[in-house]
Amino acid sequence: MTELNKISLNILSNGKGILAADESTTTMTKRLESVNIKSNEESRLNFRKILFSSEGMKSCIGGVILYDETIKQSSGSKKIPELINGSGAIAGIKVDTGAKVLAGSSKEKITEGLDGLRERLKEYYKLGARFTKWRGVYSISDDYPSKLAVYSNAHALARYAALVQESEMVPIVEPEVLMDGEHSAKVCFEKTSEVIKKCFDELILHKIDLTGIILKPNMILDGADAKKKISNEEIAELTLKCLKECVPNEVPGIAFLSGGQNEIEATENLNLISKKNTTNMIMTYSYGRALQQSALKHWSKNIKDTVGTQKVFNHRAKMCSLAAQGKWSKELEIQN
Ligand code: 13P
Repeated sequence: MTELNKISLNILSNGKGILAADESTTTMTKRLESVNIKSNEESRLNFRKILFSSEGMKSCIGGVILYDETIKQSSGSKKIPELINGSGAIAGIKVDTGAKVLAGSSKEKITEGLDGLRERLKEYYKLGARFTKWRGVYSISDDYPSKLAVYSNAHALARYAALVQESEMVPIVEPEVLMDGEHSAKVCFEKTSEVIKKCFDELILHKIDLTGIILKPNMILDGADAKKKISNEEIAELTLKCLKECVPNEVPGIAFLSGGQNEIEATENLNLISKKNTTNMIMTYSYGRALQQSALKHWSKNIKDTVGTQKVFNHRAKMCSLAAQGKWSKELEIQN
């Protein structure tokens, strides 16, 4: 077993998943302002350190993805990565610099951040990061994602992954096909399959050790504005079919993004996916909103209520962890 494979498995095994707390300052500001909290360095840190020091971290969170600002902050005398390591989790870092307009297809995006990445990775490793994240983003319409967007984002993801493995860290490869639109789940299935296949073509071309990555895909869903919706069972089946067909079986695990599903949807769908999973890949979560939303709402009502906020977060983390093991139920959700 390679060191990178060990890190991937440590993050994903035993019903653990990933807490995606890597919102850029702009996104975090939107999240905080949506609950009437002023966003500044201190408030962003205060909310995050409440999550990172909660009890739920110990049994449910194998890795935390941080943003550049947070990985350099401290909680008292402890650096944030140390605080995370203290509960048995591994610190990770978002290293892309965001999705920009793709020249040649102006309505689509290309993720940037390759310039100077090798040097930034060295710095993040010294700060304690052992895994990283890069998100490519694709939209669905009759014409999109275009071949150009599918290829150029896959190429960037593979160049990123090669640099990260060279730096002895595990790359999370995140090709996110957005749920915006009226398209059907069938269309989402086709487009997501094309996107993931192209990512693996490029990862293989760039000689990536597939046992030392984590894939972070979207689930196969109807568009958010689709008139008809498929059932949760069908979501799980289509998602598994897509992954079985497109992901080489050396990949140790899949950690889904929540992508705008509410907390319960994201939990219920993961639970069914895990129950029906017959592959040898771990299926778990790498949720941002679906792990943090209720805790943020609770905190915003009384920012001094650390214990209450942690209770809300612990419950959400526990439900996601049960779902990753196929042991979640609506009854357990309500009992707490
Ligand atoms: P969501 O779970 O809120 O989609 O965030 C996950 C993430 O890391 C997106 O890049």
